Amino acid sequence: MTPKQALLAKIKSRSAVIGICGLGYVGLPLSLRFAQAGFRVIGFDIDRGKIEALNAGHSYIGHIGDAPVAAAQAYGFEATGDFTRAGEADALIVCVPTPHPKLRIAVARPSESERLVEDVVEWLAREGGDGDAVRERLKRWIPEYALGPQG
Ligand SMILES: NC(=O)c1ccc[n+]([C@@H]2O[C@H](COP(=O)([O-])OP(=O)(O)OC[C@H]3O[C@@H](n4cnc5c(N)ncnc54)[C@H](O)[C@@H]3O)[C@@H](O)[C@H]2O)c1
Repeated sequence: MTPKQALLAKIKSRSAVIGICGLGYVGLPLSLRFAQAGFRVIGFDIDRGKIEALNAGHSYIGHIGDAPVAAAQAYGFEATGDFTRAGEADALIVCVPTPHPKLRIAVARPSESERLVEDVVEWLAREGGDGDAVRERLKRWIPEYALGPQG
């Protein structure tokens, strides 16, 4: 089984852990939606107030309310500022403000995918770019990406 097939199997069985970096207007609803779909979600942020609010079951986004946060917690959603936990995620989705000088991911056991996230974020911060530019860059760095639905 290739790494891609293994990841797809984990996604289908809902055993994949989803990491979402940046819990703002994009990252928080995305986290809650993944949790609702049955995934364990770890949300990362540098804002301790947001982390504490979420882990206490409170939303800081007006139109979301507390109930979806509590529901997501029941599925295992948690927020953290400990970026060394990025390695627990099978998929890491970055939702930080752009351009961003540097994503704060310090991994205990750097893996290829973690380095890739750092490279993508650093490249975005340096050169900017839209979704198409990011896709082109990813295709060059990881050929399997070209086989995905966006390829
Ligand atoms: N909000 C929208 O409607 C919208 C639409 C399209 C695209 N986007 C893009 O999505 C991205 C996120 O936008 P948003 O509206 O969610 O922003 P936001 O400001 O609401 O949220 C960003 C979050 O990232 C956190 N953050 C900042 N630096 C971080 C770091 N180094 N590590 C971890 N977390 C960090 C912030 O504390 C904040 O909680 C941006 O690139 C934006 O351009 C947003």
